[in-house]
Amino acid sequence: MEKLIVLTLQGMLVKDKADKNVAVVIGASGGIGSAILRKLCLDNTYTDVIAVSRNISDVGKHPTVGDANVLSIETDYTPESVESVVEQLSLFRGNISKVIICNGVLHDQDIWPEKRLEEITADNMVSIFTANSITPMLFLKSLISAVKGQKKCVIALLSARVSSLQDNRLGGWYSYRASKTALNMLVKTASIEYARRANNVKFILYHPGTVDTNLSKPFQSKRVKKLLDPDDVAARLLQKMSQVNLDDDLAFIDWEGYEINW
Ligand SMILES: NC(=O)c1ccc[n+]([C@@H]2O[C@H](COP(=O)([O-])OP(=O)(O)OC[C@H]3O[C@@H](n4cnc5c(N)ncnc54)[C@H](OP(=O)(O)O)[C@@H]3O)[C@@H](O)[C@H]2O)c1
Repeated sequence: MEKLIVLTLQGMLVKDKADKNVAVVIGASGGIGSAILRKLCLDNTYTDVIAVSRNISDVGKHPTVGDANVLSIETDYTPESVESVVEQLSLFRGNISKVIICNGVLHDQDIWPEKRLEEITADNMVSIFTANSITPMLFLKSLISAVKGQKKCVIALLSARVSSLQDNRLGGWYSYRASKTALNMLVKTASIEYARRANNVKFILYHPGTVDTNLSKPFQSKRVKKLLDPDDVAARLLQKMSQVNLDDDLAFIDWEGYEINW
């Protein structure tokens, strides 16, 4: 039977902490984020699945099947709001085994990826870097105390192949490319500090392929070799996260499991 439980954490008592296995999806209303959320809810190994999003009502539109509690936390991704989200996640300190950070903007009602130098504007660059590099980094900054502990925790961040310096043969998409390259460097740097301060945590930077979501919709031309289904990508990413060993190096990998050149 289909079931949807969306609770807010406010005022909620977290009991039986020792038995908990918690997964967190940040940016849970997007095409890939919501597919990951659905998959996690079907996996009975999780007691709690936490959706963090600007659009809690959109998260609620995706009915879930399974036994996990689905909890939602609304955020506007300001630095204060990110801190408050992580404060709430700290109720699950030591029990979080997966965090997937899905945030990413390529275009919106005001922004279109640049094809030419003349299309670059400072305002658009700031917006794209804020969503794609700074917001994920603010989460990594605050999350360390919530994820540190005995339990292995894998944190995956959605990057993109176009962030690769070596792979950049076409040019264009200045802000999006560079913001994801910045994300890669921020995560690499954070992974070094986490290894010292929270060595139960491992990171993955993940290129999901071209996935059928709002982000890719305007670019799904015939030239795209393979348009992937978000549910398929979600399953692949979660499987990869389960296979990660704590002594692995930071991986920048694609949906087929191949390493991407930085
Ligand atoms: N689709 C593809 O072909 C493709 C290819 C390569 C990489 N990616 C990456 O995969 C990730 C997920 O993309 P998607 O395809 O699922 O796109 P999507 O459906 O457009 O989802 C957008 C995501 O970005 C978040 N977001 C939107 N505006 C934001 C803002 N102003 N500040 C912070 N977060 C914001 C959303 O979170 P809320 O839940 O809060 O709305 C959601 O998680 C992105 O990082 C994207 O760069 C996608």
